[in-house]
Amino acid sequence: MSQKILVLPGDGIGPEIVAEAVKVLQRLQADFGLQIELEYGLVGGSAYDQHGSPLPQDTLDKAKAADAILLGAVGAPQYEHLDIAVRPEKGLLGLRSELQLFANLRPAMLYPQLAAASSLKPEIVSGLDIMIVRELTGGIYFGQPRGVRILENGERQGFNTLIYSESEVERIGRVAFDIARKRGKRVCSVDKANVLECTELWREVMSKVAKDYPDVELSHMYVDNAAMQLVKAPKQFDVIVTTNMFGDILSDAAAMLTGSIGMLPSASLDANAKGMYEPIHGSAPDIAGQGIANPLATLLSVSMMLRYSLNHAAMADKIDQAVTAVLDQGLRTADIHSANTEKVSTAQMGDAVVAAL
Ligand code: IPM
Ligand code: MG
Repeated sequence: MSQKILVLPGDGIGPEIVAEAVKVLQRLQADFGLQIELEYGLVGGSAYDQHGSPLPQDTLDKAKAADAILLGAVGAPQYEHLDIAVRPEKGLLGLRSELQLFANLRPAMLYPQLAAASSLKPEIVSGLDIMIVRELTGGIYFGQPRGVRILENGERQGFNTLIYSESEVERIGRVAFDIARKRGKRVCSVDKANVLECTELWREVMSKVAKDYPDVELSHMYVDNAAMQLVKAPKQFDVIVTTNMFGDILSDAAAMLTGSIGMLPSASLDANAKGMYEPIHGSAPDIAGQGIANPLATLLSVSMMLRYSLNHAAMADKIDQAVTAVLDQGLRTADIHSANTEKVSTAQMGDAVVAAL
């Protein structure tokens, strides 16, 4: 039976990098027996332009019906003046929330071939392999009440709510512990329990969940210290589990350790491992349309899709190996290019991975 994949190219470099991912999927379909059906939809600014909404009903319906979703990126400067309710980012947040994709996996792995591209010394990052598990449908991103109100003295006041219920913390905790079991068996839960009651509860619930995983070691860290440790001694981490906003910030920092944010994939999963897959970088409007964006994060997101939602671990391995092979060949897009390597375009990189398959 063929599995349905909804492809959402989005804005900025989204369409360019997703085109390369589609090439890879089509190659797997043609030559390796992958049975899939590709469908397309609009999200973000491009959806707003055509339908006046960053998440049209048609896209949401298709997303609900699909087995997995591949997303490029959303957002562009021309939408920044819009009301926050219809900005491109709302399309992405709407998908996460409507599909209950609460578990966001963001692996930060250093390819030895790219050690020189990291801003940190090679000995600090070589062998780096961290999995950040970010809670994705709760916390301050979605908490109510929120908004901007006018005070009695006429001054405006902005407010958001950081809110987590025990069950939300517990389910993301279990995802993190389950993953740690298959890796280094260590979970570091990141919070701000010294200041925020909400994350004091987070810490308490994590400790409770840990009792069901005696084979996994749990530690707790305040987020400010975690930010420092990530750039000081990142290899101390195995799995990091944290809130929606802390995960947003720490995963960008972790990305840079690996040389380029253009290398990092992500999976956003619901309770049944249905998922949306996207590179963690944004739409990069400054380089959109030039054919220079790095498609590897998106190709690695396809690998995660095959592994986590479509049950094709062997094909996922194939993509991972093909990415390693092109890096070994010395092919580099501009973001990871250095002396003695060959600078290639987005499409050349995609073609090279397809050839290496
Ligand atoms: C991410 C992005 C999004 C987020 C934006 C585009 C809404 O930064 O996926 O990390 O903040 O979650
Ligand atoms: Mg982010």
